This record gives sequence, C-alpha cells and structure tokens, in this order.
Amino acid sequence: MDFELNEEQKLIKEAASNFANQVLLPTILERDETQTFPTQEIKQLAELGFMGMMVNPIYGGSGLDTLSYVLAMEELSKIDAAASVVMSVNNSLVCWGLEKYGSSQQKEKYLPNLCNGEKIGAFCLSEPEAGSDATSQKTMAVKKGDYYEITGTKNWITNGSSASIYLVIAQTDPKKGYKGISVFIVEKDSPGFVVGPKENKLGIRSSDTHSLQFNAVKVPIENRIGEEGFGFTFAMKTLSGGRIGIAAQALGIAAGAYELALNYAKQREAFGKSISQHQAIAFKLAQMHTKIEAARNLVYKAAWEKDQGMNYDLSGAMAKLYASEVAMKVSTEAVQVFGGNGFVKEYHVERLMRDAKITQIYEGTSEIQQMVISRAILKN
Ligand code: CAA
Repeated sequence: MDFELNEEQKLIKEAASNFANQVLLPTILERDETQTFPTQEIKQLAELGFMGMMVNPIYGGSGLDTLSYVLAMEELSKIDAAASVVMSVNNSLVCWGLEKYGSSQQKEKYLPNLCNGEKIGAFCLSEPEAGSDATSQKTMAVKKGDYYEITGTKNWITNGSSASIYLVIAQTDPKKGYKGISVFIVEKDSPGFVVGPKENKLGIRSSDTHSLQFNAVKVPIENRIGEEGFGFTFAMKTLSGGRIGIAAQALGIAAGAYELALNYAKQREAFGKSISQHQAIAFKLAQMHTKIEAARNLVYKAAWEKDQGMNYDLSGAMAKLYASEVAMKVSTEAVQVFGGNGFVKEYHVERLMRDAKITQIYEGTSEIQQMVISRAILKN
C-alpha cells in the first residue's frame, strides 16, 4: 500500500494551493457578499488546465487521473468552495459524462471549449418534484422527425446562467418509467430556453444556481447522448464520479476550517496562555485533525478505485457521506475555536461553515448516500 503522492500529483496540489491563496482568497469575501460569479477566476483555472482535468488531451483536456482532480478540488475548497463547485460540475458531471458516453462528433464539438474555459457546462437532472427521487422526471423530450422538443423545468442548477452547454435529462417514453429517460446536449442560445432568477443561497454564494425553463426547445437528434432510454443510467454513472468530487470539496472545506482554527488557537491568548494550550481547545483540534484524516483516506481511496477501473459507486457514496459530515462538524467547531471572531465574516470560518452544508445535500443528500451504501452492502 502506497500513501505517497507521485511528483505530478504533488505539483497539481501545489499549483491549486497557490491559485487558491493568490487568486481566489483576495476576492472571495466580496464575491460571497454580492453573489458574484468568479468569471475571471474560472478562466484562469482553465488556463491551468483545471476545467478538463481528466479529459484526454486529444480533446483539449489535461489527461490527469482522478486523484489529481481530487487534490485540486481539496486545495481550492480550503479557500473557495463556490469556485470549486463550478469546476467540479464542469469536470465530473459534464466533461466526464460527455467523454465517456458521447459520440466522436459530440466530443470533438463540445469538449475543447469546456476544457479551455471558453464555455462552462451544467448538469440538469433535478426538478421541482424530482430531487432525491430522480426517476420521477417530468421534463418531456418529444421526438419530431430529426429533432426533439424539450419542455419542462429544472431546479437548483449549478452554473445555471454562466453555462453555455447543458446536459439535460428528460423523459422520452413515460410508459417505460426510468427506462424511458434520455439525455441531451442543449446549447444556451436555443430558442425557448430561459434561465430563471438566481437563487439567494446560504453558502457557495459566488456560484450561480438557477431554475431553467425549457419551452418547446428544439434539440437535434445528434445531440442525444447514447440511445433513447440511456439517460437515467447516464445520470447515475456520472453522479457516482461527481460524488467523489463533492467529497473532495467537503474534505477541503473541513481542512481549510481546521487550518484557520489551528493557527488562530496558537496565537489567541486567554487566561495567560495561547488557547491551544487549554485542553478544551487542544482536544477539539485533535478531533478535527483525526476526522479530516479519516475523510481524506476515504476520498483518496474512492479516487484510486476509479483510477484502477474498479466500481466506485460504494466508495464514492461513503466518501461523500463521511466527508460532508466532517465538513459540517469541523467547520462548526472551527467557528467555536474562533469564538466571537468566528461569527465575523472577515475571519472566513463562518463562510466555510455555511459552504459545508450544501455538501450534505447536492449530488445526492446524505440520506441518498446511505440508501446507496446500504443497498450495496445488503445486496448479497
Ligand atoms: N450505475 C448504474 N445504474 C444505476 C446506478 C448506478 N450508480 N444506480 C442506480 N442504477 C440503476 C438501477 O440498477 C436501476 O436499474 P435496473 O432496474 O435496470 O437494475 C435503476 O437505475 C433505478 O435504480 P433504483 O431502483 O435504485 O431507483 P430508486 O428510485 O430506488 O433510487 C436513487 C435511485 C439512487 C435514489 C437515485 O434516484 C439517486 O441517486 N437520487 C439522487 C439524485 C441526485 O444525486 N441528484 C443530484 C442532482 S445533480 C447536482 O446536485 C449537481 C450540482 O448541481 C452540484
């Protein structure tokens, strides 16, 4: 068993950490307050090769492994989980799904711009009445000759207005239930496609989350990914990898909050000594450190399994379930270590605590992860 990162992975981790500290940190307080999308920052991330990290270089990607992607997500999320979710959705939900299941024409047409930052992708599965219950798709895609007409509403879509390429899950044959669900590539300028108002969120406020409306949007047949009826499998397979990315984000939020708390505890004095010298705080730090290390092992193991070509549905779900719990616990404790200052925005820990919550919700809630895990372990 080798726990050592290779040279390339170490470089990726360092590059992501430098980027987070030098580029994201100076603007995050303002972007969080004003809910401003990190447009320039995402372009710079693309220049680093982080928007298509696992995509084959023949399509303009960086051709890196999943562990490298996880390391980058972790480092960026220590500082700015809003920027990292933009990157995560583009990498694991859009580029990965397109590269794995798209046709050669679809890959050649869409992947280069998704990798170089010209375009951003969004993944459109959730609906007002189909969140956790993802098989209950109401959005319809009706075949009319050489195109489909898509009608329906999607909710809570990350990159909702900043994206140009949308992977849209829709029902093509309601009689077949989830076996009648298909997936389409929809371009933003398609007539009938409307981006709804931006959600005013608790956390990851600098990312843009919108509802989307499809009013008889015409999509050519060649924009369907795979066969009719493949859409639900596509969504599940894609989300299995996405969950590793969100687990890495949760890990990063926890690690970022812990590092802030550790430094603060060493400097802040109370009762004649640094608060880290008080057992009440030292034990909190010990708990935080241990939980983060356990989460890190689960997240890296899931990434490793994916890189080995193994099934990672279970390990990805466990990594997300645990890392998101750790993100919530550790960031809340970090605020406690900071005391009154923890409640003040300029110390950053309250933002990390707000950002942590979504990791227990998106790409499958903690309850859904427990469904996936329990079904896997009870299967035999
Ligand atoms: N790979 C391949 N197939 C899978 C699969 C997987 N990982 N998981 C399920 N399936 C298949 C099942 O095998 C089954 O097919 P068969 O009948 O042929 O065997 C079919 O899909 C239906 O599965 P279930 O019977 O398990 O369906 P269910 O309704 O009981 O449960 C679920 C499905 C796991 C709960 C699923 O609906 C789910 O994952 N829900 C959560 C949805 C989610 O994660 N949404 C996130 C939105 S995207 C987002 O958040 C992005 C963002 O903006 C950041």
